[in-house]
Amino acid sequence: MINKDKNLFLRLINLSREEWPILFKGMFFLLISSAALMVYPQYIKVIIDDAMKSKDMSGLNKAAIIAMVVFIIQAISSSLRFYYFTLAGEKTVKRLRSKLFSQIISQEMTFFDFSKTGELLGRLSADTAILQNALSVNISMLIRSGFQAIGGLALLFFTSVKLTVFILVIIPPIGLLVAIFGKKVKAFSKSTQDALALSSAVAEESISGVRTVKAFAQEDWEIHRYDDQLQKSFDLSKKRITIVANFTGLVSTLGFLAIVFIVWYGGKLVIQNEMSIGTLTSYILYVMTVAFSAGLLGSLYTDFMSAFGAGHRVFELMEKSTVGFENSNKPLKVISEGLIEIENADFSYPARPDVSILNSLSLKIAPKETIAIVGSSGGGKSTIAQLLMRFYDLNEGQILIDHKPIKDYDLYALRNQIGIVSQEPILISESIEDNIRYGKPDASFEEVSSAAKLAYAFDFVSSFPEGFKTLVGEKGVQLSGGQKQRVAIARAILKDPKILILDEATSALDSESEFLVQKALENLRKSRTTLIIAHRLSTVKNADKIFVLNQGKIVQAGSHEELISAKDGFYSKLIEKQFSH
Ligand SMILES: Nc1ncnc2c1ncn2[C@@H]1O[C@H](COP(=O)(O)OP(=O)(O)O)[C@@H](O)[C@H]1O
Ligand SMILES: [Mg+2]
Repeated sequence: MINKDKNLFLRLINLSREEWPILFKGMFFLLISSAALMVYPQYIKVIIDDAMKSKDMSGLNKAAIIAMVVFIIQAISSSLRFYYFTLAGEKTVKRLRSKLFSQIISQEMTFFDFSKTGELLGRLSADTAILQNALSVNISMLIRSGFQAIGGLALLFFTSVKLTVFILVIIPPIGLLVAIFGKKVKAFSKSTQDALALSSAVAEESISGVRTVKAFAQEDWEIHRYDDQLQKSFDLSKKRITIVANFTGLVSTLGFLAIVFIVWYGGKLVIQNEMSIGTLTSYILYVMTVAFSAGLLGSLYTDFMSAFGAGHRVFELMEKSTVGFENSNKPLKVISEGLIEIENADFSYPARPDVSILNSLSLKIAPKETIAIVGSSGGGKSTIAQLLMRFYDLNEGQILIDHKPIKDYDLYALRNQIGIVSQEPILISESIEDNIRYGKPDASFEEVSSAAKLAYAFDFVSSFPEGFKTLVGEKGVQLSGGQKQRVAIARAILKDPKILILDEATSALDSESEFLVQKALENLRKSRTTLIIAHRLSTVKNADKIFVLNQGKIVQAGSHEELISAKDGFYSKLIEKQFSH
């Protein structure tokens, strides 16, 4: 554990590597300001013992002026110290956040099946903020307090060996107490932060799904759910602050008792003429400096423990490999034909390994062919689309494109040449134009608007006062389902992919716009391999071939006419069901 912490500590320090030059500047001013604090008791001593005793006014003036200069230097350098350390902290956290975000967004799909959005956001904001503090202000306080504690101790010895030996007897038991309490606090800080992260996960879920919450009038339930989580983290925090309060109380009691004892013992030395009053005064000032610094070190200890907790989680994420799906040597970049073969595919989702979704599924799609996949809901149709884009890898079997396993393709190139329009298209909260251009970032406005025309989106977009510049709101909430769908289709058209997947793409459209979109897709599918996943007969009827999926297998394949003539086949039954409703 100690080793692990040490490792973590070094890595935390390493995080701020780029800021070291700034930190060194901060360090420089830190040393000056601390040194200034260390010398002033010496002047107090001079003032009391020399100037005041011998009633030497000019000596007093001189000492006062020097003290003033020392304090001014101290004030300026400590504000510069604050500036540089805090600046370094801000820079580090900015870099850390950006790295962490790119790390999160580059993860493979499985990762997101296992994580909660809110928890990830918590790491991105709360954990990094804790680290920022630890890496800047806390580090500077650590160094300053450490420096002052050690320097003060040395000066204590220098000022009076007798008194100091006496003090050193008190320190080890206090140190032991610090260690015991620290351990408890550390355990609680980590679980408090975990609980807090969970509560933000709950809040995130409720807020992003607010329409559902309101539609079901479940506000109270959501409030309850959030409050429950808050209560958990509150209970843990309460335990933690109880420990900290006891700890601080105990330590400061011991500290003040020690001071009383020092004054008593020092007074005795003064009475016995073994020490001057000035020396005793400066001695007490040093003791206070040391005690104050040691106390600060104690409180820093708990801060660093939280930082370790945060650091742990941040590094855990930082280290999560994103290269699992990368292929080593010379990945293929271009899909030229668009021939798709799925051979004996077995698949279950990593998050639910015992539920088999595909079971020895095989199918073949010729280049530029339009096929449809039909089957009952939850049967694995969308899963096939996800597998083609390699969001997941198969458990058994393989998927070939142009006779090459998809594992041989560069992941980005593969996904770039597959266009998908899904059931619930997710739009980014930017303008309509930005959303369409998402498919081809360097497209001109003409390309964007002609894609919109092909997708029958142009007319409704132009009817908005701000046209293509209209903002769509978060996840596109300011558009109707059919409008969103057509923007998503325009996005896919602009991408001009070799393989087009329409996953219930037209199911949210009314029959008139569906008719229009069908016409658009008609043009689109001529020059590419197209997979249509749909349950509406009108959508699949024109496909060159229809595959019927049942229990993870293809149970029937053929044209609409061929399939419909098999009276007892799955397809006929599916159609029957559709019309009986
Ligand atoms: N990310 C996931 N993790 C675990 N199970 C999933 C995931 N996505 C879908 N499933 C499950 O896989 C099955 C097939 O889903 P899907 O392919 O979406 O069906 P559909 O044929 O309706 O498109 C469903 O039972 C669904 O619950
Ligand atoms: Mg589906």
